[in-house]
Amino acid sequence: MGIIGIGVGATQIMPQMEAMPEIEIVAGADTNPRVREAFGARYEGAHVYDSAEGLCADPDVDAVWISTPNNFHSPHAVLAANAGKHVVSEKPMALNMKEAEAMVEAADRNGVKLLCGHTLAFSPPVMAMRRIINSGELGPLRALNNWAFTDWMLQARGPEELDEAVGGGVLYRQGPHQLDTARLLGGGLVRSVRGVTGKWWPERYAVGYYSAFLEFEDGVTASVVNNGYGYAMTSELVPWGDDRGLIVGATGEDRVAIRKGIKDGTRDEAAAKDSLKIGSEHERVMWRERSEERQPWRPTNLGILIVTCERGDIRQSRFGLYIERDGGKEERDLGDAQYRAGREDLAELYNAVVNGAPVYHSGEWGMATLEVITAIMESSRDRKEVRLTHQVAMPLEYDG
Ligand SMILES: NC(=O)c1ccc[n+]([C@@H]2O[C@H](COP(=O)([O-])OP(=O)(O)OC[C@H]3O[C@@H](n4cnc5c(N)ncnc54)[C@H](O)[C@@H]3O)[C@@H](O)[C@H]2O)c1
Repeated sequence: MGIIGIGVGATQIMPQMEAMPEIEIVAGADTNPRVREAFGARYEGAHVYDSAEGLCADPDVDAVWISTPNNFHSPHAVLAANAGKHVVSEKPMALNMKEAEAMVEAADRNGVKLLCGHTLAFSPPVMAMRRIINSGELGPLRALNNWAFTDWMLQARGPEELDEAVGGGVLYRQGPHQLDTARLLGGGLVRSVRGVTGKWWPERYAVGYYSAFLEFEDGVTASVVNNGYGYAMTSELVPWGDDRGLIVGATGEDRVAIRKGIKDGTRDEAAAKDSLKIGSEHERVMWRERSEERQPWRPTNLGILIVTCERGDIRQSRFGLYIERDGGKEERDLGDAQYRAGREDLAELYNAVVNGAPVYHSGEWGMATLEVITAIMESSRDRKEVRLTHQVAMPLEYDG
């Protein structure tokens, strides 16, 4: 693998790549010299580039993980595909359907695999929910309700992360987690969307909120809400929860100070962002020296999700799922159910490249999720329901 864009997102993926015997990190590219130096020091023998072009010309690279800012996903994926590399794109796949189509076309034309990765739809509890839905044990699926209240807007952010024109804000960045999950559980085929987005802070004028109502072709509905302003937190709404935020684990008190710094302009965003990247104390504590002990699930990026079937509900428990039906409440322990960011995605890509298995989270799958995102924007702007035309189903074989 080669990694293009060695930022905060990449810090979550690198330990998983290291842990997989199928994967070897052979190259990295970033425009930031500090990051390149830290990457070169960690991966002795790996090739280090200051551009995506350099990395894509490297004959030792079979596949690339693209974790550059959102506006580069499409150009970098096309570049990599044209160089004969298989591609995993970070979420969101692209900024719009035209960019996404270019990625699919480039992968097809060059005979390489394209996988749209790194959403919480790949997390073991979500995959287990889907298997229960499809087993029919609770009767037909009827509705999905999903609420995430987080501190996304309070995290250290580069300017591009806050500018909708280049893929900034919670809808582009967090929407893929919730909407990929809703599509996976609902089967994939969203018929229509009504949504609203909110930009409520003049000091940080980005989409910090969205709310959407999705109807699937078969009449199943999904209500999806995301609030990144960091006041109420869904992480507190489970008995074992707490008020810590998404990445830095800030408490409610910390958020008061962070919010003040953002609003009065005294916060050094660039330094705060750099303090989350490769070689930082944060990276060490959060991603490289995590306790082997299994940690209880907390409602973070995906938030709280309740799956309603005709004869029961499913939701996440500490280490698995609660299934509540007429006969009572069952807790199903999923063992090591932790989400190991990137692990399932990389396994799916490897299986496709080496064993000829299908790519389930394909370019077409990613495009369909992106279509929901862009439909929420359109619906919010025009205050109308939007019909979708690029939806694809997730086949039952996916559940194994
Ligand atoms: N922040 C997170 O926790 C997180 C988590 C999961 C996924 N992601 C995804 O990862 C992607 C990047 O987000 P991030 O938070 O890591 O941002 P980031 O700014 O921390 O990382 C992006 C990196 O790409 C580099 N870069 C920028 N332009 C480049 C170019 N043209 N060529 C090569 N390198 C370039 C930057 O120097 C930076 O190091 C986004 O698509 C985001 O959705 C982020």
